[in-house]
Amino acid sequence: MAILPTHRPRRNRKSEVIRNMVQETNLTTNDFIYPVFLIEGQNKTIEVSSMPGIHRFTADRLIDEIGQAVELGIKAFAPFPGINDALKDRLAKESANPEGLYLKTVADIKRQFPDVVIMTDVAMDPYSSDGHDGIVDPESGEILNDASLEVLGQMALAQARAGADIIGPSDMMDGRVAWIRDVLDRNAFSHVSIMSYTAKYASAFYGPFRDALDSAPKKGDKKSYQMNPANKREALRELALDEQEGADMVMIKPALSYLDVIHAVKANTNLPVTAYNVSGEYAMIKAAAQNGWVDGEKTMMEVLLSIKRAGADAILTYFAKEAAAVLRRG
Ligand code: PBG
Repeated sequence: MAILPTHRPRRNRKSEVIRNMVQETNLTTNDFIYPVFLIEGQNKTIEVSSMPGIHRFTADRLIDEIGQAVELGIKAFAPFPGINDALKDRLAKESANPEGLYLKTVADIKRQFPDVVIMTDVAMDPYSSDGHDGIVDPESGEILNDASLEVLGQMALAQARAGADIIGPSDMMDGRVAWIRDVLDRNAFSHVSIMSYTAKYASAFYGPFRDALDSAPKKGDKKSYQMNPANKREALRELALDEQEGADMVMIKPALSYLDVIHAVKANTNLPVTAYNVSGEYAMIKAAAQNGWVDGEKTMMEVLLSIKRAGADAILTYFAKEAAAVLRRG
């Protein structure tokens, strides 16, 4: 005679009310940080062709976009600038210009929306004529770590002066968290937070972002500073350093192919953990959905939930507005 099951996990799935009662992970709009693209000019909104539904905004239009997102309950934003080529140079000087596009716009956003949290990006690539996150040695082509710290520190300080709530170093230079912390503290910005891109991998999933901002490296790749996708223990080493150096929050990037890294980092720190659901991850779902191959909305919600389940306390995601609309609908 066949033995009937004595344990029946399905009892906890038998109705929607019970399923919701035992649900372990919940998404809310508090979890979202919305990355937005800023460009020079006025009254222009240009769609990123590899990111359907995501636009590059001139500052005036970006204010409208942020207003719409705030209406949907989104409270944190991570602006990234597309800088005119004429303003780019080897040392990314434009990055600390308080009258430049980025810092003026950050200040403007904070004036119009004092309660939103703005996380600014620290890395040289948007302003670098070489398209790298640090200074390139003209002879060897090497990315110079310690010389770059000087530039990154000045960039972070200028961002804090413009009103940034959180500084987000995405450059992966060694020692930059301690360097930036020191510069901020010595200039009366001890209240400004640092969310370190702790484990940022040299990933092909950044492609659409580089299209959007025209920020791809002119020569070579980023493998001498971004992490090898094969490595997980190395992420824990970066974590230990970021903790020592005074990071307030740590980030893993990208998110989807790195859920195991998110999990491992979460298990090894008491700091808040965030994950960046990057441009290529967004593009994949959009492309499949446009072909009718997956249900775009359900896939989006499942992916975001999985990132949170893996251990992320907050998620940088281009889906922020769309997901917030789904959560509002219930
Ligand atoms: C650059 C930066 C990148 C992203 C955020 N900051 C690209 C890169 O490192 O080349 C990628 C984000 C995304 O793909 O959504 N400092």
